[in-house]
Amino acid sequence: MSDTVLILNGPNLNLLGTREPDIYGAETLADIEAAAAAHGGGLGLDVDFRQSNAEGELVEWIQGAQGTAAAIVINAGAYTHTSVAILDALLAVELPVLEVHLSNIYQRDEFRHHSYISKAATGVICGLGSQGYLLALDAIAARLNNDKKA
Ligand code: DQA
Repeated sequence: MSDTVLILNGPNLNLLGTREPDIYGAETLADIEAAAAAHGGGLGLDVDFRQSNAEGELVEWIQGAQGTAAAIVINAGAYTHTSVAILDALLAVELPVLEVHLSNIYQRDEFRHHSYISKAATGVICGLGSQGYLLALDAIAARLNNDKKA
């Protein structure tokens, strides 16, 4: 049986491809979803890929991951820098969490340098564009394989 990884995308990431392409690149979210599904498949992982502009919906999806997903990859978009609710949900489910950002948030505005959700993250990947999602899947696969050996 494959392990499922829930990949969550926050506000405005539905606009990838046309949104500030100099910062976020030309790929659409559908392109990233297809790449993540293919890469996950190669690692024996099922990918459940979602996007919402609503904080509450993201919180509900995180809550629903308990018992249904083996790990969470999250690019919370701007909620990264504002949302205690998303942090609390991630802490509550006690799953491995990989935080991903397409851009290098430390090269950008000061208010992007702080992430509320990093406190719940097993690891953080930023600045590598869509490759960050694939590296997060690699890290999860390695971790799950180690757990199975233990
Ligand atoms: C982002 C960085 C955030 O600061 C921003 O609000 C986003 C995208 C990224 O992927 O680089 O929406 O999470």
